[in-house]
Amino acid sequence: MPHLLNITDRAAPPAPGFDQPFEMLDACHDKIRQMLALMARMREHIERNGNDAQARAAAQDVMRYFDVAAPHHHLDEERHVLPALEASADEKLAGLAVRLRREHREMEQGWAAARPVLARIAQGEPASPTPQEDQTLSSFAGLYADHIAAEEEAAFPAAKTALGAAQVSAMALDMKARRGVK
Ligand SMILES: [Fe+2]
Ligand SMILES: [Fe+2]
Repeated sequence: MPHLLNITDRAAPPAPGFDQPFEMLDACHDKIRQMLALMARMREHIERNGNDAQARAAAQDVMRYFDVAAPHHHLDEERHVLPALEASADEKLAGLAVRLRREHREMEQGWAAARPVLARIAQGEPASPTPQEDQTLSSFAGLYADHIAAEEEAAFPAAKTALGAAQVSAMALDMKARRGVK
């Protein structure tokens, strides 16, 4: 039986390294999309099959990602991408930085609400999510699409243009150091 909830995509290209920080930010977005899709499949799976080992494993994967990697990603952007927009003379870009920071806080709050729902599933509690818990997961997942699109279409290109090579190198070093990569 194929494991519907497998997240490993063996055909996926290797992740970019820290020497390409903007490519890494893009790769994080791919991972976020992958994790939200996994969460959606997990919810469908539980509806059909109940909370089994596959659902528990999926809930654990989603939790691990949003506990550890997602906060790093938001901080990468807040330390390197958003300051470049804030320093811009373009008011639209400065306004976009305000919006993206605010949305990061909304994501933190959304995760604080969604995490206990996933923790319950990960612990193998048999009951399916209640309609309210289901809504909590939907609200959390719904925070990402427009945010990521605005970053990819406007914020990242503007920051890339604004930052010089030395700043991009410093960004790469900082991203690496904060993750404890030697
Ligand atoms: Fe962001
Ligand atoms: Fe992002």
